[in-house]
Amino acid sequence: MKIASIVGARPQFIKAAPLDRELRKHHQHLLIHTGQHYDYLMSEVFFQELGIPKPHYNLEVGSATHGRQTGEMLIRIEETLAQEQPDCVLVYGDTNSTLAGALAAAKLHLPVAHVEAGLRSYNRRMPEEINRVLTDHLSDLLFCPTETARENLAREGVTEGVSKVGDVMYDAILDSIEIVDRKSHILGSLDLQAGSYLLVTIHRPGNTDDPHNLAQIMAALNEIDEEIIFPAHPRTSQAIEQLGCQLAPTVKLLEPVSYLDMLALERNARLILTDSGGVQKEAYFLGVPCVTLREETEWVETAEAGWNLLVGASKRKITQAAKEFRPQGERPEIFGGGKASQRIAHLLGSLDRP
Ligand code: UD1
Ligand code: UDP
Repeated sequence: MKIASIVGARPQFIKAAPLDRELRKHHQHLLIHTGQHYDYLMSEVFFQELGIPKPHYNLEVGSATHGRQTGEMLIRIEETLAQEQPDCVLVYGDTNSTLAGALAAAKLHLPVAHVEAGLRSYNRRMPEEINRVLTDHLSDLLFCPTETARENLAREGVTEGVSKVGDVMYDAILDSIEIVDRKSHILGSLDLQAGSYLLVTIHRPGNTDDPHNLAQIMAALNEIDEEIIFPAHPRTSQAIEQLGCQLAPTVKLLEPVSYLDMLALERNARLILTDSGGVQKEAYFLGVPCVTLREETEWVETAEAGWNLLVGASKRKITQAAKEFRPQGERPEIFGGGKASQRIAHLLGSLDRP
């Protein structure tokens, strides 16, 4: 079979890495990069580090408003898919690249398969929520990472083509975790001791584009009396600069880091503060306490297990959580056993069988 994957944003490169390896064993795998992320540290570094082949197409869409960016992707993806005529189109997660890929494929009557289907925050102010709902309802095959995701789909009447397969990001971490110590030198270069710092990432528009929320978060980070390592998404560094806020000497703002460096920073952090979906899961996989700077999460199981505390953007709640949050309970296996990519490859193969 010829399977086309549409990717465009940082977490999609990481999700596609284990699947690409699996798919190439049995199928032709065409990689189409929309160009949503384009800086070296937001894109190419992941292809190099994770051994993902260079995309067959880079549609070079770049940054724009939601309508313009999604529209431009739609035009260019449609042209590419019409030319390539794959047997199936794989989309990942919940970005504008995901929605554009699903919509272009569905209108060309190409089967659509959604990796990370069924997630919901039930907050329509998040662009991702709109992308997820629409993508799920356009998809023929829906690969759910968790039981909650499957239940969410069932509540919307989506039951056909749905499979719970586990989480491809867990596959990705298992593939890389053993080489992290050998390949990443970030702890040494930042002079960090394991367990002696907090790791922060934020990039949700609800935090970066709302000056009140961003000011609360930055004030909390400045007040926390511990070293803070903060690899900042370009959206975030721009917003911090615009806000004009002074950072305490304890807060180290960095450029985005590579995947292996990020895993090294995560694994050795005392605590992670984040609004990222992927980072919440990685904290759980690695057994590092996670404080989520949002009011809700799609990864409800991590919160239910007691390893993820939701605090929103309140300065008081963030500083209190940084001091007091010390989860100790079990971490049940909620994301499958690291075989999601294998299961997806197998299920995609079934499209070929009558
Ligand atoms: C996107 C996804 C989000 C995902 C995130 C992963 C949507 C709506 N959002 O958010 O779901 O969690 O990726 O990181 O699809 N920029 C650069 N260089 C780059 C990329 C972006 O400077 O390589 C800057 C631009 O100023 C751009 C801004 O970051 O306007 C936002 O980028 P965009 O791709 O629109 O959204 P993300 O915040 O990255
Ligand atoms: N990540 C990374 N470098 C960074 C920040 C994040 O490699 O500087 C990785 C992180 O380990 C995870 C993924 O990017 O695998 C998460 O992406 P992001 O937070 O951008 O998006 P989300 O998961 O929220 O959609």
